Amino acid sequence: MKDRFRVTGGARLSGVVKVDGAKNSVLKLMAASLLAEGTTTLTNCPEILDVPLMRKVLEGLGCSVEIDGSTVRITTPAEVKSDADFDAVRQFRASVAVLGPLTARCGRAVVALPGGDAIGSRPLDMHQSGLEKMGATTHIKHGAVVAEASELRGAHINLEFPSVGATENILTAAVLAKGQTVLDNAAREPEIVDLCEMLISMGARIDGAGTSTITIDGVESLKPTEHEVIGDRIVAGTWAYAAAMTQGDITVGGIAPKHLHLALQKLRLAGAEIETYDSGFRVRMDRRPTAVDYQTLPFPGFPTDLQPMAIGIATIAEGTSVITENVFESRFRFVDELQRLGADASVDGHHVVLRGIEQLSSTDVWSSDIRAGAGLVLAGLVADGETIVHDVYHIDRGYPRFVENLNRLGAQVERLVGDEGK
Ligand code: UD1
Repeated sequence: MKDRFRVTGGARLSGVVKVDGAKNSVLKLMAASLLAEGTTTLTNCPEILDVPLMRKVLEGLGCSVEIDGSTVRITTPAEVKSDADFDAVRQFRASVAVLGPLTARCGRAVVALPGGDAIGSRPLDMHQSGLEKMGATTHIKHGAVVAEASELRGAHINLEFPSVGATENILTAAVLAKGQTVLDNAAREPEIVDLCEMLISMGARIDGAGTSTITIDGVESLKPTEHEVIGDRIVAGTWAYAAAMTQGDITVGGIAPKHLHLALQKLRLAGAEIETYDSGFRVRMDRRPTAVDYQTLPFPGFPTDLQPMAIGIATIAEGTSVITENVFESRFRFVDELQRLGADASVDGHHVVLRGIEQLSSTDVWSSDIRAGAGLVLAGLVADGETIVHDVYHIDRGYPRFVENLNRLGAQVERLVGDEGK
């Protein structure tokens, strides 16, 4: 039987918590280490399941990878293999980040179509067409995307949508391409800036990171580097919403508050008091939250990865909230689980209307992805009695020491291993 969390509702969370490096950065930085022969060192890495999974992918390509607490050292050989291990890649979405580096280093990449979260269809058409613009041919064969290029050349690429993954793969291919690449409608997420900073420290020539137009002048080769992963804004945002939902008082460290600007602004509108510092913030709430509307958008819009937290707070807010999902189509699956907890929610296409109730009512619920799982734990914190959250392996992929941190902040959450508690 898979592990579950038993969450006892009713506690107000208070105290200090520090976030580790961002999941959505570290995995891409690990993939980018393929671009340079030698040992690249990443610090501030989170201890989450996806890091050893990415180690497996890189080892299959010929690298040796050492994980030493929050430090990861990757030694990339002169000759990298071009075929990523099918089973390792299938297990998580971020593995597709090896596509750009492998095409640039080997002139060929075979990467299984990735699995990962059940949050909607996640095609790779923009990744493929970006590489094709640079002279590669790509096709899907036996469940894998195959890219081949005798030489990558700089190109003008205009993304249809500012896809995070496509921006990353185009960047990591363009840094070693011949000539200049201009990428328009690029993603502006802080994790893209982090990747660009690491690539620049490896010797890449990149301008405009964090804006919609990124210019890359290809270089002959890159050198390994040492880089500190940026803090995880989604984990930090989860703590912010936990404070507001439980009428608590949490100070979060290890994060630049500007990376969560809109999410914190929304909490202010809901009635929270927020102070920001250089690398952290404090959220205090002393009453029932007021209903606030949300729509998810690419950065600097409200992050789709915090949409479950926005829905969570809306379930217990005073008034009615409308939450609109613009990034992933199937991300409302966990609304069914919230309805089992008594939430008054109705889904209409990519909108969900929530009429806030005073308190949720505990029962068994099932996580469908990392963020939905964390959202269900927060919901359990504001339900009466004991909520059992199943399939918490999803949460383990993105939230280091989640149960320990929750309990340190005053929550009552217990991990039930296997049959325990049955
Ligand atoms: C990354 C994050 C994920 C986050 C998302 C949006 C990682 C490992 N995951 O996912 O947590 O929720 O950014 O901030 O970093 N699309 C296409 N064709 C493509 C590529 C994307 O249609 O070639 C669509 C997707 O189906 C989706 C939208 O574009 O609807 C956004 O996807 P994208 O920004 O690429 O997200 P990911 O990089 O997969």
